[in-house]
Amino acid sequence: VTGKLFGLGVGPGDPELVTLKAQRILQFVKVVAYPVTDSGTSFARSIVAAYLPHGCTEMPIFVPMRVARSPAYAVYDSAAAAILAHLRASHDVAVLCEGDPFFYGSFMHLYTRLHGHCAIEVVAGVSSLTAGAAAIQRPLAARNDILTVIPAPLPDAKISKLLAVSDATAVIKVGRHFTRIRRLIENAGLMGVATYAERVGLPNQRLQPLASLDDHHVAPYFSMILTYDGAEDWPAGPGFATLADTAE
Ligand SMILES: C[S@@+](CC[C@H](N)C(=O)[O-])C[C@H]1O[C@@H](n2cnc3c(N)ncnc32)[C@H](O)[C@@H]1O
Repeated sequence: VTGKLFGLGVGPGDPELVTLKAQRILQFVKVVAYPVTDSGTSFARSIVAAYLPHGCTEMPIFVPMRVARSPAYAVYDSAAAAILAHLRASHDVAVLCEGDPFFYGSFMHLYTRLHGHCAIEVVAGVSSLTAGAAAIQRPLAARNDILTVIPAPLPDAKISKLLAVSDATAVIKVGRHFTRIRRLIENAGLMGVATYAERVGLPNQRLQPLASLDDHHVAPYFSMILTYDGAEDWPAGPGFATLADTAE
């Protein structure tokens, strides 16, 4: 197999956060693959639309958003086979990954299937976690702070436990779990130090103290909530919720 596979992190949404390395690789690959959601859109592709090489072959991978794993796994099986066919024909292939490929990225499913069958390079990208902290201008964590990433679909008891033992948290995959997560954060006494960040880096980005949003807020999938309850006394930045400036 002479073609090379690239797992290409393209950052969290702002095209200026696409690395020079990702741009360089996009200039020479023959095939560009990317996940497409049920709605028919590809966020990863939209981020690098301006950098896509002329005449490249595009390979949309239609990934069903289901709790059950098998439908998506069947899609990854056939996508891996199609990618391997291109690699065998000496075509380099880039798989676009929103944010960083190995931070909760779907690329790992293709990596698992193709590892050992071809040369693979994983290109790190700016993750939404660091972009979110930069956007709200509050450091994620410092010194011996424990930072925990909490996927919102986890059960209540587990989330409450993690909120209790962490100095800083990033709740990701908020979407339809918003109301439940808001309540759990409130119960944990963290409402005054929780900031909501939606569509970070996009023109319709939204940053707000969590306490300023009501229970009925409709959160998109691309939203997160960052809390900080550690030892540091960070200065207030845009979107920074503190007990002082938030009416609870
Ligand atoms: C499956 S994870 C993928 C993370 C991605 N690989 C990364 O490195 O950031 C998707 C979750 O990341 C968060 N996310 C990704 N991009 C975001 C953005 N631009 N703004 C806010 N949250 C984002 C959301 O919580 C979303 O539900």
